[in-house]
Amino acid sequence: MVLKVKKANKIKGEITVPGDKSISHRAIMLGSLANGETSIKGFLSSADCLATIECFREMGIEILMSNAECLMPNEGKIIVKGKGLKGLRKPKRILDVGNSGTTIRLMTGILAGQEFSSEITGDSSIQKRPMMRIVKPLREMGADIRGAEKQKSGKAEIYAPLQVQGKPLKGTTYELPVASAQVKSAVMLAGLFAEGETRVIEKNKSRDHTERMFEYFGASNKGFEGREIDVPGDLSSAAFFLVAGLLVAGSELTIKNVGLNPTRTGIIDVLHRMGATLEVSDERILSGEPRANVQCPMSNVQLKGIKIDGEIVPRIIDEFPIIAVAATQAEGITEIRGARELRVKESDRIATISSELRKMGANIKELDDGMIIEGPTKLKGAKVRSYGDHRIAMSLAIAGLIAEGETEIDDAACIETSFPGFEKLLHEILV
Ligand code: S3P
Repeated sequence: MVLKVKKANKIKGEITVPGDKSISHRAIMLGSLANGETSIKGFLSSADCLATIECFREMGIEILMSNAECLMPNEGKIIVKGKGLKGLRKPKRILDVGNSGTTIRLMTGILAGQEFSSEITGDSSIQKRPMMRIVKPLREMGADIRGAEKQKSGKAEIYAPLQVQGKPLKGTTYELPVASAQVKSAVMLAGLFAEGETRVIEKNKSRDHTERMFEYFGASNKGFEGREIDVPGDLSSAAFFLVAGLLVAGSELTIKNVGLNPTRTGIIDVLHRMGATLEVSDERILSGEPRANVQCPMSNVQLKGIKIDGEIVPRIIDEFPIIAVAATQAEGITEIRGARELRVKESDRIATISSELRKMGANIKELDDGMIIEGPTKLKGAKVRSYGDHRIAMSLAIAGLIAEGETEIDDAACIETSFPGFEKLLHEILV
């Protein structure tokens, strides 16, 4: 599918964005492992989260969803009929996560402690993404996980498909070598099936949705009960529209009910440092997760280049492609460092966003662990590619709103992995 975007005059609206992807995955997982019913409001019914549902259905968990409702952002309702920690049954087929890194990494933690064997894999992008980061700590806990093991840059790496022979696990203390919520969560979920205590230590704090949801459910290796969960809008999805609202002159945009978990709000801090103060109102906490309405400033602001490095990187990890777009319009140099992890996301995001924005006229230099972007530059419409990466596709669409002429984004169907209805919403707010 090709997504065509023209230069925008103005953006206006009060919108909501679909539910948080990270929280939606975790709600299905903990709901399936809980005793009794969990109902989930605001569930993100995107391809990635539906893959998580399918994996649990394959293991005998009944999960009900109303499709008509689920197509509406923030309206989806799901019922998960959890069967407790010992309730999963051996899947008859290979578990397929599609494009979802969160599903494969977190699920492997769960599968490691089952009394059955299983196999898990995903699409061609998933089969190229590093899995040793979860396999290593899980093996320390006693897991038996096999896959294609290869040397990569002098280090042992392992790739999906992963064959998991369930084993009795024991608790561990694991210090994360890279800030990764997926690794932390895989170990924590395995910990539910392990004897004794499991601890994860992280230097730079990654998103803490698993910790919050464990607390909300009262989850432990002794079992826990189902709960009602209200999923806020995904700040990583809202980020595309917030940047659009800042870059398109004269825009008025409010996004309601957006998740503002402090481990995710790096984008708000970065935009603030670049000179744009977003207004936050109606702050509240539901199901252990903070949320609020976020409004773009009414007056036009000239963004300025900044340096991004260090502890903020994990708090902004999925927002670098859209930050790169914002940086093309900022006065001076934006320097991003310490973000090598971007090279192992759905695509090599340092390479893909740099090459595609360059086609539109941006001045970007790739670094091994980041980018240097000099602005402001006038962007021009071009034919660009997503490389099958949803966040690259959506970032390029926003760049298209400020580019002269028309931008054509090839391979844009991948947007469905995290943001069903993106194109429709984009058209709704164009004035
Ligand atoms: C996620 C963690 C992050 C993020 C991904 C979702 C999660 O990945 O990039 O989109 O839900 O735990 P890493 O753990 O690889 O940083």
